[in-house]
Amino acid sequence: MSETPCLEIKLPHINFNFQNPILNASGTFYPASFDQLCPLAKCMGGIVTKTVTPTAKTGNSQPRTVELPGIGMLNSIGLQNPGLAYTLEKDLESLSTYHLPIILSIAATSLQEFSQMSEQIVSVQSQYPNLLALEINLSCPNVDKGGLDFGSSCDGITEVVKTVRDIWPGVLWAKLTPNAGNIIPLAGAAVEAGASGITAINTLLGVAIDIRRRRPILPRVSGGYSGPGVKPVALHAVWQLYKHFPEIPIIGIGGIQSLDDTLEFMMAGASLIQVGTACFARPTLFEDIHNGLTQFARQEGLAHLQELVGCAHSQ
Ligand SMILES: Cc1cc2nc3c(=O)[nH]c(=O)nc-3n(C[C@H](O)[C@H](O)[C@H](O)COP(=O)(O)O)c2cc1C
Repeated sequence: MSETPCLEIKLPHINFNFQNPILNASGTFYPASFDQLCPLAKCMGGIVTKTVTPTAKTGNSQPRTVELPGIGMLNSIGLQNPGLAYTLEKDLESLSTYHLPIILSIAATSLQEFSQMSEQIVSVQSQYPNLLALEINLSCPNVDKGGLDFGSSCDGITEVVKTVRDIWPGVLWAKLTPNAGNIIPLAGAAVEAGASGITAINTLLGVAIDIRRRRPILPRVSGGYSGPGVKPVALHAVWQLYKHFPEIPIIGIGGIQSLDDTLEFMMAGASLIQVGTACFARPTLFEDIHNGLTQFARQEGLAHLQELVGCAHSQ
């Protein structure tokens, strides 16, 4: 049995090892606050930014979130963010202090915008050696343009991924929606167009009604459903993706809130996982999962945690 199991995850075609498979989900993470509660540099494998758009967005009107006790939450943030220029100038610098790989999440409303964003990012790449990957958010349900309209069709995904791929030479993940039916053709389009990984899943569409007012709670009626209730849906997506594209790294996400959830995602085929909604209530979850993985690997006599990826398929 190995005394110090190796939690590292190596993805194909990248000359880089993640120190462990634990990432945060885009839009649910506040590194400065969380770092005061758990040592992010030690217990995370990388940091994913909030999705940035070409220019600042103020987001949707309030209320933007609905708590769904026991099963998760709805959100309709609407991609509020300070815009790409600010993120490149300020956020990347502060995130670089963790010495972890940074995954920059991007969205735009046209191919021209995606192209310009990619050029801007490439132009600062040498200043930020930790900037490892782009994650294209092809799946935000809370904006009128640039989310599901690109991400719901193979053609839309192909165009966007190709546009970014033509300019960005590095690791490129496509974050897909569970709201467009079968995820496999969408993933196929992304891979064919040059994506080097698939992030699955973004939020499911959901509605909550204020029974006193007899109206939907969210001004846009529908929001993105996340948290423990989406886990089986996300696991299904990861399982199917691994089955169809065993060579393509899968970044699993959706309802992960424990060590056991993390192990389920890895065994279903995820090389890396992202923790979202659960860390609002438990910002120390990253450390708990990290310690749990070490202990699990020891107990199971695993020299390399990576051996678990997709193992449930071979039984
Ligand atoms: C408040 C909130 C904001 C989010 N913002 C983003 C975002 O900016 N970009 C993105 O790709 N996903 C965003 N998401 C979706 C999450 O990254 C994740 O895909 C989803 O919540 C499922 O994971 P979870 O169940 O662990 O939260 C957001 C989710 C929540 C709850």
